[in-house]
Parts: sequence; structure tokens; C-alpha cells
Amino acid sequence: MPKILLLVLMGYAIGSIPFAILASCLFRLPDPRSYGSGNPGATNVLRTGNKAAALFTLAGDAAKGWFAVWLVQRFGADVTTAALAGLAAFLGHVYSLFLRFRGGKGVATALGVLAGLQPTLALATAGIWLVVAFVSRYSSLAALTAAAGAPFLALLLGLPREVVFVIGAMSVLLFWRHRVNIRQLLNGTEPKFRRARPQPE
Ligand code: G3P
Repeated sequence: MPKILLLVLMGYAIGSIPFAILASCLFRLPDPRSYGSGNPGATNVLRTGNKAAALFTLAGDAAKGWFAVWLVQRFGADVTTAALAGLAAFLGHVYSLFLRFRGGKGVATALGVLAGLQPTLALATAGIWLVVAFVSRYSSLAALTAAAGAPFLALLLGLPREVVFVIGAMSVLLFWRHRVNIRQLLNGTEPKFRRARPQPE
């Protein structure tokens, strides 16, 4: 039990690694908290026009969610504990240990967690994201739709109820982290995929 608890806590620490900030250092870009939506995430990094940096952010943030789930399973934990480790990584991304308990909106990390739990679920959820993003050009709307669908897909795929509950909890928190986006979507001011305007002098 203490070993599993330690691994779940490690999930939180791993999830805390802010890949958007690392990308900004590696690719010599401004801190993502200083432009666009101010969110340290792949969508906002893409607003610099640097696709490689955005891809690095997306891959890193997703990989840490996947890794947290994989790690506990590697040490013999059941799927519910693995889901809790994934939730811990998601919380780490959103309330990062390294960013004074601030962080991102959790989309890529949640997708990585789903990939660790059940690859088919991750593929189906990513599919929803891709379709909505392609049609609407809103990253946030795509994330919200995919998050709303994920618990139902998990139920359809026969995942245990406890795991569906954990996935639902991630979705609720993801909606909460997108509350500004939701407001902007409703009043028509949400930005589509495009480069950030330069900050005013
Ligand atoms: O992945 C985050 C996305 O859903 C919204 O990002 O920067 O447009 O608030 P952003």
C-alpha cells in the first residue's frame, strides 16, 4: 500500500512537469503565460507559429499522463489505482508543483492518461477532438466535446465503474479549467487556431 501511494504521488510530480515552459526554453520562445490565452499548453504554444515546439509540448504533456498510469501498473497496481495515478498526473499538470500550484488546462495529459488506461478509449476521444477541431477550428470546443464524451465511451467500452468515475472527475475539472473559454465561446470572442497578436508595448 505505501508503495502504491508513493507511486501515485510520483504521478503527481511527473504530471507537474510543465512541457510548454520547457518548450519555450528549448525553442527560445517567450513564456507561454505571457501571450495568447496565457495557458501553458500546446494550443497556446502553437500560437507562436512554432509547430515543433507545440508538438513537443503536446507529446510531453500526453506522455507524462501515460507514463504515470504505466508506472503504477508496472508495479502490479490494478486499473483503478492506475486511474488514480493518472488523475494525480492530471492534477499535477493543472496545479503544478513547479508553477506555484498553477498550470494548464489538462487536455493533452488527460489524453495520455486515457491512452495508459485503454488505448481504444484514447483513440476514440482523440477522434472526437480531431473532428470538432477540424470542423469548428476551436481547440477549446474540441477539448470540451471530447471530455464530455470520454466517460460515456469508457462506459461503452466496459471499463470498471470506479475508472469511469475517475475519468468523469477529470472531465469535470477540465470543464472548470476551460471556464474562460466557455464564456468566450458563448459570447463569440474565443480565438480560433491562429497566431497570437504581439503583446502591446
Ligand atoms: O488545450 C487547451 C485548449 O483546449 C484551449 O487552449 O490556449 O485556447 O485556452 P487555449
